[in-house]
Amino acid sequence: MTDLKRKPLFNEHGDCDVINRRMINGNTTNLNDFNNMKYTWVSDWYRQAMNNFWIPEEINLNQDVKDYRRLSQAEKNAYDKTLSFLIFLDSIQTANLPNVGDYITANEVNLCLTIQAFQEALHSQSYSYMLDSICSSQERNDILYQWKNDARLLERNKFIGDLYNDFITHHDGIHLMKTMMANYILEGIYFYSGFMFFYNLGRMGKMPGSVQEIRYINRDENTHLWLFRSMILELQKEEPQLFTPALVEEYKDMLRYGVEEEIRWGSYVIGNDIEGLTMQMVREYIYYLGNLRSTSLGFGTLYEGYEKEPASMEWVSMYANANLIKTDFFEARSSAYAKSSALVDDL
Ligand SMILES: [Fe+2]
Ligand SMILES: [Fe+2]
Repeated sequence: MTDLKRKPLFNEHGDCDVINRRMINGNTTNLNDFNNMKYTWVSDWYRQAMNNFWIPEEINLNQDVKDYRRLSQAEKNAYDKTLSFLIFLDSIQTANLPNVGDYITANEVNLCLTIQAFQEALHSQSYSYMLDSICSSQERNDILYQWKNDARLLERNKFIGDLYNDFITHHDGIHLMKTMMANYILEGIYFYSGFMFFYNLGRMGKMPGSVQEIRYINRDENTHLWLFRSMILELQKEEPQLFTPALVEEYKDMLRYGVEEEIRWGSYVIGNDIEGLTMQMVREYIYYLGNLRSTSLGFGTLYEGYEKEPASMEWVSMYANANLIKTDFFEARSSAYAKSSALVDDL
């Protein structure tokens, strides 16, 4: 069992030498010194996250208001449930990240977690903006609470929610790793059937504003995945007792459960009823993602025969790259965010 000490707050006797800095159980001063980082990947991460800044309300949803009424019943159902699911996930992310940060003793990594928490709050707000703009107030309320009123959705959220709750009551290294794995699964697997559903709508020429919101969110989620992968890889070096073969097998089982759950969910909301998508496409893509997430942590592949991105799903990553200047299927202008010159300070 690896004990876990909560990071000190005001700590004048903390260790200023980067050589002694540790991901967990270090003696941090909490000083944000940008020129004195132990984990040098943080510099690139921080710049990327800052450059990704965006404002949900700057995306026009007028076309979506019309398109929403013209969606097929299956598409509307999937749109509502996917949105409900994503709103809940981003909300619990906002709430849980400070719990992780309380036990991370590398201040540069805590900076990243703080930015991530801000971005998760922004994502929740972007979903609110979508609901307020596109749906009636009754539809809005119905969608907001499906995360607990729909039994399938509740069961799905419980997997992540219970793991996050476990860390609140068990402060040790293994539970920290499990909450970090849950975070990694949420960011790297759970979001993706939702993203692919929205991108498929985009491919069909529907709901362009919602698709653009999701592209910016997806771009942020990629950096979150990068952050948690980096944190887990650092822990592998610093705390090898958290990565015994038996524990790695447990983490791989969590990834497998996440994959299976994602496929069950895909079959519930997408099935074979959505134009442009089939369950075979969804299944192959999620197996591929599971492999990608597992190999990125050095855990090896989970599903043989699914090591490459399926050719039928190449369009997902084209949409997911929100910085693409021009594509055949999307608006012919750069989607990189126009910096804040347009903002007016009215204080
Ligand atoms: Fe998010
Ligand atoms: Fe995220």
